[in-house]
Amino acid sequence: MKDMQPPHLDQSRVQQSFRRGLESYHCAASVQAETAGRLARMLQEEGAPRHFGSVLEFGCGTGHLTRQLLQRFGADCLMLNDLVPEAAQLLQTLEKEIQAHTRFRSGPIESLPLPQDLDLIASASTVQWISDLPGLMARLALHLKPGGWLALSGFGRGQFRELAALGSAAAAPCYLDADEWLPVLPEGLEILQIEQCPVVLEFDSALQLLKHLRQTGVNGNAQRGWSRRQLRSFEDAYRAQFGQRGKLPLTYDPVLLVARRTG
Ligand SMILES: C[S@@+](CC[C@H](N)C(=O)[O-])C[C@H]1O[C@@H](n2cnc3c(N)ncnc32)[C@H](O)[C@@H]1O
Repeated sequence: MKDMQPPHLDQSRVQQSFRRGLESYHCAASVQAETAGRLARMLQEEGAPRHFGSVLEFGCGTGHLTRQLLQRFGADCLMLNDLVPEAAQLLQTLEKEIQAHTRFRSGPIESLPLPQDLDLIASASTVQWISDLPGLMARLALHLKPGGWLALSGFGRGQFRELAALGSAAAAPCYLDADEWLPVLPEGLEILQIEQCPVVLEFDSALQLLKHLRQTGVNGNAQRGWSRRQLRSFEDAYRAQFGQRGKLPLTYDPVLLVARRTG
C-alpha cells in the first residue's frame, strides 16, 4: 500500500465547513450527485435484494445517496448519520419517500454507537474524511450481518490534483485509488465491484472555482481568507500550469465499491 499517513485533520473545521455549505451543497455538488446514483446502481447490478431489513447510511449530508437508495430499495429500518447535526433536516424533506422507520444521529461515525446485524451500510463521498479508515471498516464489518452489503464511495489520489500541485492544503486525509482498497477492508469482506472514474469540471475564474469549493464544503481542511493579491497569484499559477482554452479545470476522482460480508 502506498503512504496512507493522513495529513492532520481538524474535525471541527470539517464540520464547520460542511455546516456552512449545507444550504448550497445539494445543487453545487454535481459530481457527488452523479456518484450517489452510480453507487446505488452498482448495488442493483450486484444483485442486492429489493428490500433490506436494517440500513445505516453515514455522512448522509443533504441526501443524494439516501434518495437514490430509497428509489431503488425498501428498508424496514433506516439510520442516517452525519457529522453535522443540521443534516437532520433531510428527514423532513424525505417524508414522502420514506416508509421505513427512520432516525438520524449526528456525530463522527468513528465513535457513533451502531446497531447490530445491519443488512446494508452505505456512504457516498464521505470516507475520504476518515483518518483511520481500516479501523472504521473493521468496526463496520462487525455490525454487518453475514451476507450483509457495503456500498461506499470516496476519492482517489487524483482528487483535486491541480490544487495539490499548487500547494493547497484543501486535501481530505484519506484519498485511496481503487487498487488500494483491498488491504483497507478486513477479512470477511469481499469486494464485488470497484471502479474509479475521474471527472473534470471547468471554471471561468479562480474565484468561481473557490466559490464551488466553499459551496460544496469540500475544502474543510484548507486555509481560510484570501487577499486580492493572493487570489491573483493563485489564478496566474493555475492558468499557467493547467489553463485550457481560457478555463480552469478541477479534477474529481470518485472511487466506488460494493462489497459483501462473506462469513
Ligand atoms: C461530500 S459530503 C457527502 C454527502 C452525501 N453523502 C452525498 O453523497 O452528497 C460529506 C459528508 O460527510 C460528512 N462527514 C464528514 N466526516 C464525517 C464523519 N467522520 N462522520 C460522519 N459524517 C461525516 C460531512 O458533514 C458531509 O455532510
